[in-house]
Amino acid sequence: MAIRGVQIKIKGLTHRYSPRGAVTFNRVDLEAQPGEALAIIGRSGCGKSTLLHIVAGLLRPTEGTIHLDGTLVEGPSPRWVMMFQAPHLFPWMKVAQNVGVGLRFGRWSKNEIRERVAEALRLVELQDFAESNVQDLSGGQQQRVALARSLVMEPELLLLDEPFSALDAFTRSSLQRDVRSIAKRLGINLVIVTHDIDEAVLMADRALIMAGSPGNIVHELEVDLPDPRERQDPAVQALRASLMATFQGAANLKPGTSGAGTGNGSVSKTESFSIH
Ligand SMILES: Nc1ncnc2c1ncn2[C@@H]1O[C@H](COP(=O)(O)OP(=O)(O)OP(=O)(O)O)[C@@H](O)[C@H]1O
Ligand SMILES: [Mg+2]
Repeated sequence: MAIRGVQIKIKGLTHRYSPRGAVTFNRVDLEAQPGEALAIIGRSGCGKSTLLHIVAGLLRPTEGTIHLDGTLVEGPSPRWVMMFQAPHLFPWMKVAQNVGVGLRFGRWSKNEIRERVAEALRLVELQDFAESNVQDLSGGQQQRVALARSLVMEPELLLLDEPFSALDAFTRSSLQRDVRSIAKRLGINLVIVTHDIDEAVLMADRALIMAGSPGNIVHELEVDLPDPRERQDPAVQALRASLMATFQGAANLKPGTSGAGTGNGSVSKTESFSIH
């Protein structure tokens, strides 16, 4: 697949759902390099999904801009694809048809669709299920179909909103590992919104903590760990403890505080952990 990553530049992003409503977040600035995997963690309601929907072009911000390699995001595109908590598959279509559904709207020949779908199914290790009914698949397998459906579009950026939270622990951990390894192999960017500190440490190159009211990114932590990452690895555990402490510190921000003392949307603290 001819996939590559993208440089993300978010500048002064502010959102309120209605003109007189509360500000969800205020002047968020963020940059990411091609191929980087970011995790955004934060308390319920702090604006993580809103931020992700805006980056996906599904929602217009009140103010501010998002550029992906210099292209202003103004709407949805196959270049930036979102995966949700539920796979949202079409139950009357076979696995391969579900994966190819986006391509059928483009100018792809039947042969090209077949080849690309087969490749995407191989990536998520579902090549033997191409002709299965999606209802006959487990929850984890269905989420893999949704992942293949995203990858078949050859996106530069994959946005994930708590994509594995409905899955059991075993399935979740195999998908966490596989999504990271597929993204790294293809060079794709990831932005993962999660409540799960472990997920952030296992999947991201950088963890961002959102807090405050209105929300902002108040801390970031580099996750400089080798792959594959194992939950029980002491370095993973140490980073997890540090991220949890930082998260708890950020959660104590008083309402009206935007950023830990900066108030202007800039990240106040970057910590780096390495076991090299
Ligand atoms: N469509 C909407 N209309 C009005 N307000 C909304 C809408 N969607 C979300 N909000 C509000 O915006 C704020 C941020 O919501 P958002 O869904 O982004 O939070 P979140 O961080 O993703 O939370 P969670 O972790 O529970 O998913 C909340 O106060 C929420 O009530
Ligand atoms: Mg959410």
